[in-house]
Amino acid sequence: MSATQPHILVIGLGSAGKRHARNLRALDCTVSGFDPRADRQQETAAEGPMEALFSSLDDALKAQTYDGFVIASPPSFHIDQIIAAGVQDRWILCEKPLSIDTASCRRLADSGAKVLLGYTYRWWPPVAEFRRRLHSGEIGAVRHIRFVMSAHLADWHPWERYQDFFMASREQGGGALLDESHFLDLLLWFAGKPQSIMASVDKISDLDISADDNVDVIASFGGGMKANLHLDLIGRPHQRHIIAVGEEGTLMWSYEENAVKLSRTGELKWESQIFTCERNEMFMGAAAELLELIRGTRTAPSCSLADGTAALEVVDACRQSAANGQSIRLSA
Ligand SMILES: NC(=O)c1ccc[n+]([C@@H]2O[C@H](COP(=O)([O-])OP(=O)(O)OC[C@H]3O[C@@H](n4cnc5c(N)ncnc54)[C@H](O)[C@@H]3O)[C@@H](O)[C@H]2O)c1
Repeated sequence: MSATQPHILVIGLGSAGKRHARNLRALDCTVSGFDPRADRQQETAAEGPMEALFSSLDDALKAQTYDGFVIASPPSFHIDQIIAAGVQDRWILCEKPLSIDTASCRRLADSGAKVLLGYTYRWWPPVAEFRRRLHSGEIGAVRHIRFVMSAHLADWHPWERYQDFFMASREQGGGALLDESHFLDLLLWFAGKPQSIMASVDKISDLDISADDNVDVIASFGGGMKANLHLDLIGRPHQRHIIAVGEEGTLMWSYEENAVKLSRTGELKWESQIFTCERNEMFMGAAAELLELIRGTRTAPSCSLADGTAALEVVDACRQSAANGQSIRLSA
């Protein structure tokens, strides 16, 4: 091991895995990779130097001890791979969601695995600024927050049929609810745990997928605050925004405008704070934090196993509510 040039094994070399490999190289890491698909290994090698490439995780783990790991496989594999890599007692950056449900996360209880969870919007400067301003009291008492994420699945990975992408598969952990649990994580990060959840989780579009494609959630908090989330894999143009309404104004984050905006009047007039950051910066932020954890310049991850499990508790409550048509109370 070299403290200055850590060697990271990237598990899963699809869109997110290749991005992590690129970013880690840019941060002066040595990078190895594992993907069961030979074409994914070749694509990764074509982008830049890879120390070693493997078709089996066992072989990759037997070959050596790494300084850290990135897990970017489909969500149904995350828990097994955290446990397998965790044996080397190194920090693991695991892509979101942590798994497909909370029951599967219980297997991590005694693993001692050191995990930084990749709910990467937390490293996105406009989202962090939105949260700071929300908590600053600028819009007074917050009464409701609305989250919208709407993006047609066929546009996500133009290089492959959407039917072949794990997002199409309920079994592998695809679908709007699990994949866009980014926004459930942000809800928890902004406002803490809701008291109850009412949700519908459906497959309503013509998309040829087994996973859900449309989610509507109402979350109720103590003090009467409400949040609602709409997530779908159908919408064009794509929209991602969050609007918080307070007694003294409305604060909005818009991904498409790369802005945080404030309005206090009845008209559609906004004071806009425009950002110039690009999407990759949030992945670079997560990778930089992984390196701080590996080097010991940081001791605790800013997004943890507990955060990943908390988001999945809300996912489970949404499914339960959708199945029985009732509001689900969450434990305090
Ligand atoms: N943080 C973010 O904003 C963000 C963005 C994109 C993806 N992700 C997450 O990254 C993960 C991967 O998503 P993606 O878009 O790269 O999907 P992808 O389909 O492009 O890549 C997944 C890769 O995993 C490989 N794979 C399949 N089975 C595997 C196994 N058992 N072990 C290791 N690799 C295996 C596939 O061959 C494929 O190359 C998901 O958890 C996804 O939610 C996060």
